[in-house]
Amino acid sequence: MSSEKTFSMVKPDGVARRLVGEVIRRYESNGLSITALTMTRLTRERAESFYGVHRDKPFFEELVRFITSGPVVAMRVEGDEAISRVREIMGATDYKKALPGTIRADFAREITKNIVHGSDAPETAAAEIRFFFGD
Ligand code: RTP
Ligand code: MG
Repeated sequence: MSSEKTFSMVKPDGVARRLVGEVIRRYESNGLSITALTMTRLTRERAESFYGVHRDKPFFEELVRFITSGPVVAMRVEGDEAISRVREIMGATDYKKALPGTIRADFAREITKNIVHGSDAPETAAAEIRFFFGD
């Protein structure tokens, strides 16, 4: 067991649908801790930077428009195997392929609007925590 830090974010659809508490509850009830949290609205410039790895994908413009469409709730999440466990709790990117009981299977209805984000590796976790919390 190794304690890790990861970054997760309730996306604008999750905030609009009042799923902030539900997402946090699922992390906390799985033994993960929220150790930093802020609500913010991303500018286009920051959104393009955050999702820079997807710049050449056909869905990039739709993704940037969506993620800037309203406030997000950004969190640092800590606990054993936090990076992979947050991804498991979220479920697959495509909600139709997400396992039952995951956040995306339970709540997402479109591939872009999929409620939550979670870092996919230690390097992205560190960079995304820095992007939102500066440490
Ligand atoms: P995330 O980064 O948000 O945690 O999601 P992820 O790793 O599961 O998925 P990723 O491949 O990194 O894609 C980032 C986000 O882009 C949107 N997307 N749309 N229309 C599409 O085909 C498509 N594919 C991805 C989703 O919002 C996805 O979470
Ligand atoms: Mg990703």
